[in-house]
Amino acid sequence: MRDDLKLRLEEFKARYPVEASERIVKPPVAFIGEEILELAVSALLQGENILLCGGKATGKNILADNLAWLFARPVYNVSFHVNTDSSTLIGTDTFVGGEVRLRGGPVAEAARRGGFCILDEINMAKNDAVAVMHAVLDYRRLIDVPGYDCIPMHPATRFIATMNYGYAGTRELNEALISRFTVIRMPALQSEQLRRLLRAAVPNAAETHIDHCIGLFMDLNEKAVNGEISTHPVDLRGMLAALRMMTDGMHPKDAVAINITNKCFDEYEYQLVQDVVMTRFV
Ligand SMILES: Nc1ncnc2c1ncn2[C@@H]1O[C@H](COP(=O)(O)OP(=O)(O)OP(=O)(O)O)[C@@H](O)[C@H]1O
Ligand SMILES: [Mg+2]
Repeated sequence: MRDDLKLRLEEFKARYPVEASERIVKPPVAFIGEEILELAVSALLQGENILLCGGKATGKNILADNLAWLFARPVYNVSFHVNTDSSTLIGTDTFVGGEVRLRGGPVAEAARRGGFCILDEINMAKNDAVAVMHAVLDYRRLIDVPGYDCIPMHPATRFIATMNYGYAGTRELNEALISRFTVIRMPALQSEQLRRLLRAAVPNAAETHIDHCIGLFMDLNEKAVNGEISTHPVDLRGMLAALRMMTDGMHPKDAVAINITNKCFDEYEYQLVQDVVMTRFV
């Protein structure tokens, strides 16, 4: 990372110290992609909230987790689904000693504690849930819950949303919401980055297995870009699982079959992917 950013990160951490928290966790792997990481760090230092957009397994969550770790902030996760409503986000009434109190949801807790709140798959959300986020995300930086005092936002609180186009059930985000984020598009990894990623994720993998996996991934990616197959089989998560299993002793062809090829439920696509696999794994 650039030195000036490192310095500003240190200043940020000194300004907003946190007490020990089990929510400050080191991610299992470092995010690979220096430029994207720097963009995100600069935006967060500026006080912005960020929206990470990209296809499946492009590293949106691993980036969000790495950012929280770099800023040394506790993480609060919300996975949006069609039933996520404002009380899931802000909290619900509970009785404490005969009194009604608000038991804070992840957004309220992140606001209080200066956490990084990860709004996962935000485009799965109903407009109702999204509406309560407007005041949270813009310059007002507060949560106004009817019947309770306003919860002001800790100055270190940030929101990182992720969205994935094209999954079943995803919707377009409304403009008012988009305008409250800085948007970062997740790029496809180049083969050298992919090599670093596979080595880091499966440290004892054989180099030949890594080579074959990269070759296959690139082939499938090219076919998807050319529209010959869907992006369905271009799945880094499946590739990582396949590499782990072959490293563990499974026959590479089987490892690729159960983690990649068999995920194609369209017979025509299955055959095409199978043909590509045969050229790399015999
Ligand atoms: N740039 C990257 N650096 C490090 N790991 C990565 C990167 N891209 C993908 N990965 C790895 O790929 C896997 C999937 O990443 P992650 O869960 O962050 O993807 P995602 O974009 O959130 O996917 P989805 O849209 O399906 O939720 C993880 O094991 C992660 O470590
Ligand atoms: Mg994700």
